[in-house]
Amino acid sequence: MHYFYIETYGCQMNVYDSYRIKTLMVSYGYMETQNHMEADILIFYTCNVREKAKQKLLSSIGMLRTKNTKVIAVGGCVAQAEKDSLFGKRGINIVFGPQTYHNLPDYISDILQGKESRIIDVDLSQGIKFKHFKKLEKASASEFVSIQEGCDNFCSYCIVPYTRGREYSRPAADILEDIKHLVRLGTKEITLLGQNVNSYHGEAPYITIGASKETWRLERLIQEILEINGIKRLRYVSPHPKDFTEDLMKLHAASNILVPFAHIPAQSGNNRILKLMNRGHTREQYLEKLEKFRSICPCIQFSSDFIVGFPSETEEEFYDTVDLVEKAKYTISFSFKYSPRKGTLASTMDDQVPEQEKTKRLHTLQKALLKSQKEFNKSLVGKTMEVLFERPGKLQNQYIGKNIYLQSVIVESKNNLIGTFKNVKVSAAYDNCVIGDIV
Ligand code: 5AD
Ligand code: SF4
Repeated sequence: MHYFYIETYGCQMNVYDSYRIKTLMVSYGYMETQNHMEADILIFYTCNVREKAKQKLLSSIGMLRTKNTKVIAVGGCVAQAEKDSLFGKRGINIVFGPQTYHNLPDYISDILQGKESRIIDVDLSQGIKFKHFKKLEKASASEFVSIQEGCDNFCSYCIVPYTRGREYSRPAADILEDIKHLVRLGTKEITLLGQNVNSYHGEAPYITIGASKETWRLERLIQEILEINGIKRLRYVSPHPKDFTEDLMKLHAASNILVPFAHIPAQSGNNRILKLMNRGHTREQYLEKLEKFRSICPCIQFSSDFIVGFPSETEEEFYDTVDLVEKAKYTISFSFKYSPRKGTLASTMDDQVPEQEKTKRLHTLQKALLKSQKEFNKSLVGKTMEVLFERPGKLQNQYIGKNIYLQSVIVESKNNLIGTFKNVKVSAAYDNCVIGDIV
């Protein structure tokens, strides 16, 4: 019997991929273990969107490798970017990319049987892996479903188009089948996942008159998903501001299943920086979209991503971002120091901002983001809201769930609440969560 241990870094897409790898490995007869000491196969599923990804990976391997280890497989975006330069380091013998993980069980078997000593497969052809996915046998109350992958936008700071490949939309029939299967297993909340979900253009489930197949946009896909009985909440992540349509906004307004919440990454509030970032939208267009969305769907709330210290960003330009945050009023947001990625246009730009300055700007921005987050949390005190409980809290009889706005809500209960929806009256607000009582 061979045991594998998998370590996952990065975004929701990586968590999704890792889960598929586990399911595939188990279907081939490998056993998963949470204890790296008893594993003879170590799998690292990596992310290099930010931070010093390669160093982090090598030090993790160094810490987890034991004398039992026979296979070290490195997958995901670091593998895709570093390719065979990873061989010869820390005993790595398999390098696989985000589009080739369906082959991993076979590659591991080849190494274990001594047929090969090193295997690399970083082909970027899209869509093949999905055909190899195994149907899940159990599912949680909230699950992700990949609808789209890769990106053609080439924002100048971003490595994704190089590591995940070009934009690919899964056929709508496959997505609908996946969702129906999850709902049969008891899933109540679905999050549609993609690097750029609102540029979805997947093959329609049927052939229309004429030779070519129709494609569906995200709006049509959502409409069809909303028809599936049993789904209580639908979300999607991440959309691009430039591709956000009024039709999509109207769907939010018309449905109480499609949550009134959208993560719409702004990245910067300054037009010169947005242009250098190749974002395809201005500050004004972005704010107009939020305003339009609020006028169509008054209870909508937003979150966003920001990058501070992009090459040549001046302090004054940075304050345009702070100003945008104050105007946009986000509920939750994510902010990062710009981190140069090898192979991207921005990494070659002159005038990189010193690290100390980036840290200072990040601190200032996070203060502004926290202010609007706290204001929003406070506004919920006294209100009753539906919460889907996901995990136990730190204290006994404590449970943590999410409301429609993806905020963490904490309650006490003697009954196990995991996987259930409950109405909760919020009694107090903290910076990153609210607490309440089941009503
Ligand atoms: N440096 C810092 N942040 C980055 N992101 C993407 N690339 C970089 C980079 N090179 C951030 C963006 C994106 C989020 C997923 O990660 O804000 O929306
Ligand atoms: Fe990266 Fe921009 Fe594509 Fe998002 S839209 S994945 S930031 S290139």
